[in-house]
Amino acid sequence: MPVDLLFAMLRNPASTGAVLPSSRTLANAMAGAAVGADTVIELGAGTGPVTEALLRRLPGVPLIAVELQPALARRLQARFPTVDVRQAAAKEVVDGLIERPGRLVLVSSLPFRSLPKEVAAATVDSLCRFLAHDGERKLVQFTYQPRAPFAVPRHLRWQRRTVVWRNTPPAGVWELQAVR
Ligand SMILES: C[S@@+](CC[C@H](N)C(=O)[O-])C[C@H]1O[C@@H](n2cnc3c(N)ncnc32)[C@H](O)[C@@H]1O
Repeated sequence: MPVDLLFAMLRNPASTGAVLPSSRTLANAMAGAAVGADTVIELGAGTGPVTEALLRRLPGVPLIAVELQPALARRLQARFPTVDVRQAAAKEVVDGLIERPGRLVLVSSLPFRSLPKEVAAATVDSLCRFLAHDGERKLVQFTYQPRAPFAVPRHLRWQRRTVVWRNTPPAGVWELQAVR
């Protein structure tokens, strides 16, 4: 385990949600699902494996990386100077971008099943409002569970894009979009 992730885990296990960073295969699958975006907003960037894959797969596409934990956010900004790193809660950043034009894709590693219940509920509400605002938008989210990452209202629909076995533990990559 990288030492910065270990410290983040010890400080805040519920928010960190994983003992290992995402594998390169999972990060590539997440980035592949974002192809076609005008702007990517990465939520819960951590130590940056998905950030790195996004930069490789979508060169030239503006990338905003959101990370709550200050030490991890500082490390990310030093590692990826061209990325707009925001040390903030995902909900705050997503709410602030709701009116932004273009095809916005959210790529999230947020650990919804371990986050404090009220944080998870407020973040889910924010994401659902953001997606309902424009049917071209989507959320890409991975989960270690064999079901959709979280429950959504009927005007939104989950689709499982793939299962990545080369990850510890294996993870499903899901997409959420407004029903057209
Ligand atoms: C499971 S880790 C994923 C890290 C990395 N993206 C990866 O795939 O290895 C989840 C990350 O989300 C961050 N996080 C948790 N709650 C958050 C929130 N409300 N807003 C922004 N980031 C959050 C944690 O600090 C942690 O770095």
